[in-house]
Amino acid sequence: MEKIQVKKLVKIFGDNPKRGLKLLKKGHTKEEILAETGLTVGVNDVSFDINANEIFVIMGLSGSGKSTLLRCLNRLIEPTSGEVKLGDSNITSLDKKELRDVRKHKFGMVFQNFALFPQRTILENTEFGLEVHDDITEENRKEKSLDALEKVGLKGWEDKYPDELSGGMQQRVGLARALAVEPDILLMDEPFSALDPLIKREMQDQLLDLYEELNKTIVFITHDLDEALKLGDRIAIMKDGEVVQVGTAEEILTDAKNEYVREFVQNVNRSQILTAEDIMIKPKAVLYENDGIKTAKYKMKRNGLTSMFAVKGKRKFKGIVRLENLIDAKKDIKDFIESTKTARPYETLDELFGDMADLDVPLPVVDKDNNLLGIIVKGTVLSNLAGEDD
Ligand SMILES: Nc1ncnc2c1ncn2[C@@H]1O[C@H](COP(=O)(O)OP(=O)(O)O)[C@@H](O)[C@H]1O
Ligand SMILES: [Mg+2]
Repeated sequence: MEKIQVKKLVKIFGDNPKRGLKLLKKGHTKEEILAETGLTVGVNDVSFDINANEIFVIMGLSGSGKSTLLRCLNRLIEPTSGEVKLGDSNITSLDKKELRDVRKHKFGMVFQNFALFPQRTILENTEFGLEVHDDITEENRKEKSLDALEKVGLKGWEDKYPDELSGGMQQRVGLARALAVEPDILLMDEPFSALDPLIKREMQDQLLDLYEELNKTIVFITHDLDEALKLGDRIAIMKDGEVVQVGTAEEILTDAKNEYVREFVQNVNRSQILTAEDIMIKPKAVLYENDGIKTAKYKMKRNGLTSMFAVKGKRKFKGIVRLENLIDAKKDIKDFIESTKTARPYETLDELFGDMADLDVPLPVVDKDNNLLGIIVKGTVLSNLAGEDD
């Protein structure tokens, strides 16, 4: 997988945009250039790298240049100057045919307005991106599309039409369509902005699950700071066509480069950036599904616990066993494993608070295959939040 490098990228809209380049070099602002020439600066001298296999979020207010920047990456919009590199290949100097090939195989795009065709079935919509791939058979195309639909949780919906699906499901089709091509890079332009908050959160979680499972670089645009903090390995903040800061959520919150970023993030607190993964700890010990009652009691006593989590095999999470239920029990613990709430590693403390409040035991953190990754104890949550002012 290849890194994306953006170097001194500029996009100016209007006739004879080179005029604008000169003015930019002289230090004129976007506003001044518009007033003097009628040209609009979309992206202004932007340089940064996107690491292979990271979620890179581009955030900024409406009109700040996010969409323009994203479309310059695969030259859906032709940059006025500057360079975009994908690994060793220079995207900005490819000829038409080479560019078409790169777009076809390397990039998948997902847009805010789903962009589904109403008269096509869900399967046909999903196949759309593959139709330009003349090197694969019809059968193969169907197979890849069904596979992509299954990945986004839409197995069984392939013969329906878009208007039979909810907004969230329609966007899953948008995502499946992009995934069907098996691109290295997903370009997502505010894909969840039109969705209700609850559905939005579901979609974010699903994207993070997919990210865990697929080996891809994701460039994700949003104007929603919470979304940026939740999804981004790193975040670029844009203003008036410029990237004013690139960093991890933590870096942006604790070390804002200027007043603009500071104002942007001032109302964020730690509970919105700390995730389950950040604060989970290794359980002292676990029970195995086949442990006998005696073993279980012994383990609890040994570790000073009145309940313990049980796993199957090495770490497949099964549930919780409480000492009080074992007092008069015989045989093994299997019959005494209760289900309990679990969290995913990327959930923020903000999201977890509700789940933690009424729990009298730690919160287990599991991956998408239900393997136990760690546990969250209430004390850690509080001490992490108390670190707010350091
Ligand atoms: N095709 C275009 N022609 C002229 N100006 C454009 C065009 N597309 C975008 N712009 C301008 O470029 C700037 C950045 O727009 P855009 O990239 O769409 O911002 P964002 O996605 O952050 O809302 C805005 O000032 C917008 O008006
Ligand atoms: Mg936009």
